[in-house]
Amino acid sequence: MRDTVFVPSFGNRPSVLVGRSEILVGFEESIQSFPGSRERALLILGQRGYGKTVLLLEFAEIAKRKGFIVTSPTVVSKDMPSRILEKLSAEGERYITKARPRITGGSISILGSGAGIDLQGLEQPRKSFAWELSSMCGDLNRSGKPVLILIDEVQANHDSLRQLIVAYQEMVGEGRDVAIVFAGLPAAISSVLNDHVLTFLNRAAKIVLPKLRFGDVELYYRRAFSGLGIYLSDEAIGTAAGEAQGSPYLMQLIGHYLVMAADEDGRMDDSLYAAALERAREDFINDICQTTIAPLSEKDVDFLGAMAQDEDFSEMSGIISRLNWTDSAAQTYKRRLIRAGVIEQKRRGAVQFAVPYLRDYLKRQII
Ligand SMILES: Nc1ncnc2c1ncn2[C@@H]1O[C@H](COP(=O)(O)OP(=O)(O)O)[C@@H](O)[C@H]1O
Ligand SMILES: [Mg+2]
Repeated sequence: MRDTVFVPSFGNRPSVLVGRSEILVGFEESIQSFPGSRERALLILGQRGYGKTVLLLEFAEIAKRKGFIVTSPTVVSKDMPSRILEKLSAEGERYITKARPRITGGSISILGSGAGIDLQGLEQPRKSFAWELSSMCGDLNRSGKPVLILIDEVQANHDSLRQLIVAYQEMVGEGRDVAIVFAGLPAAISSVLNDHVLTFLNRAAKIVLPKLRFGDVELYYRRAFSGLGIYLSDEAIGTAAGEAQGSPYLMQLIGHYLVMAADEDGRMDDSLYAAALERAREDFINDICQTTIAPLSEKDVDFLGAMAQDEDFSEMSGIISRLNWTDSAAQTYKRRLIRAGVIEQKRRGAVQFAVPYLRDYLKRQII
């Protein structure tokens, strides 16, 4: 069957956003808070495939409905500041004062990069990013337009992130009606961040994206499959929902492969059903497990390898004896991996994997 519902790819807005309605309601309230309020700087943290990017896109829609000028999610990189200015001037063109030397020879100059040359060919003094941003937001605010800036894939110690945060804080000081939302992996704020950035992000209102609830995934599957005319027993739907392990991306993969497995009458036999779950798991392992492990140190991976020998959760004492490490070394790596969102505390003295199928992936690597 053709899949018209599931979208198993990153940054793709799903037809139904499962289990995030409270977050959307909270966001709507927070952008209506007073300019300068703490909730106006928001940080979304979540695992790969937990829906950070789609949440930013959803926030953009909500804010636009409330009259905001919104810059689409900008990934943290060297040219992030100029990208933000470009997006803002494109989105808010009608409201931004043209008196400033922004337009050169009919095309928009590359703001903040020193390319502001006027028609006489005289070099304009280069304006700082903070100045450009604040003055554009000022123009927009005077036209009754608040501004929302969306930043995706926050990563350690990028100078452009510091520049943006400084600019945002100055704008707050100037009373601008602006809001900002950052999204990143849980590890993004734990690593070697510039102090100023770290302090700011730690003080921002934080949303740690939880796993999707089993019941929400099950209900979504039931509705989606029956809408598509696919017949699956309650048991088959329950098993599929459990396999997703609360990961939105895995939920999309499983849904997609199940649709593909169905014949024109919307049915599939047990072996096709099992093969679909297997394909989803394989894709997930390839896309998520590898990228989770890649940035970790050798010792982090040693720790995880020792955990992978257990079936369910791991006692710290077992890990320590397998690795022949000191207690304090093991505690250090435990903390690092928890902060990176790779493992979680099960109870005192025991940890478990926080990423689905990571154990299976590690076991394959070791063999
Ligand atoms: N709440 C959700 N409900 C349904 N699908 C979702 C949800 N969140 C994310 N997805 C889907 O999961 C996949 C990954 O989402 P994405 O936003 O790219 O994740 P992230 O940016 O956190 O890595 C996409 O296919 C997206 O459509
Ligand atoms: Mg993303």
